[in-house]
Amino acid sequence: MRTPIVAGNWKMHKTWEEAVQFTNEVKEGVPTVDEVETVVCAPALFLKEMVDLTTDSSLAIGAQTMHEEEQGAFTGEISPVALQNIGVRYVIIGHSERREMFNETDKSVNKKVHAAFKHGLIPIICCGETLSEYENQETKEVVTFQVDAALHGIKREEVKNVVIAYEPIWAIGTGKSSRAKEANETCRTIRTALAQQFGDDVAKQVRLLYGGSVKPDNMKSFMEQDQIDGALVGGASLEADSFLQLVEVAK
Ligand code: G3P
Repeated sequence: MRTPIVAGNWKMHKTWEEAVQFTNEVKEGVPTVDEVETVVCAPALFLKEMVDLTTDSSLAIGAQTMHEEEQGAFTGEISPVALQNIGVRYVIIGHSERREMFNETDKSVNKKVHAAFKHGLIPIICCGETLSEYENQETKEVVTFQVDAALHGIKREEVKNVVIAYEPIWAIGTGKSSRAKEANETCRTIRTALAQQFGDDVAKQVRLLYGGSVKPDNMKSFMEQDQIDGALVGGASLEADSFLQLVEVAK
């Protein structure tokens, strides 16, 4: 009922030549968007070239962050208008690395989600708990709060197009992925929170991704879960082969 999504988050990796090579290798191999949506969120510098390279492919290109304002004196920032203008389709919002290192707050995440919809971008909203919150069994409260805050004031017809990535911070880049069943229960909590705010019908349509040390060899365990509709992948999205293997599992 929900089309799976495999989204790569390259973070601050790759040269321009490597980005082009990956795109050329992957763009022919991805399935149609009704089978699996495939997205690569690349460094901003490469986005225009990657969009141009993929006009005849189902591979969609996403940004890793953006500013919430349309324009202004924000040195170094990238506007939603500019992203839309070059054909970017998705944008990651509120990744834990942005929250931790670049002062993104629940409030700014919410502003960015509003800006994304205003400019026709699909937000991939990240949520997830720290290790100490996990150990204190606060995961459910943390993710519910983050998701409610991110979607404050967003219209029901927009919410159904949102993609939410549950990424336990302690699982990112550590090789320690969450157990699939446990991640599924957290995703169920997120869906319940969505249902309470926006109704069952909307909640059922939202795609929930798991992120945190997803690899081709553990992808299946996540895809088997009833609440998990795909993955947001860092390290294992960097090589064309491994990205395509993840996509194959999601089919
Ligand atoms: O956004 C993806 C991410 O933070 C997970 O990274 O390297 O653990 O797959 P990784």
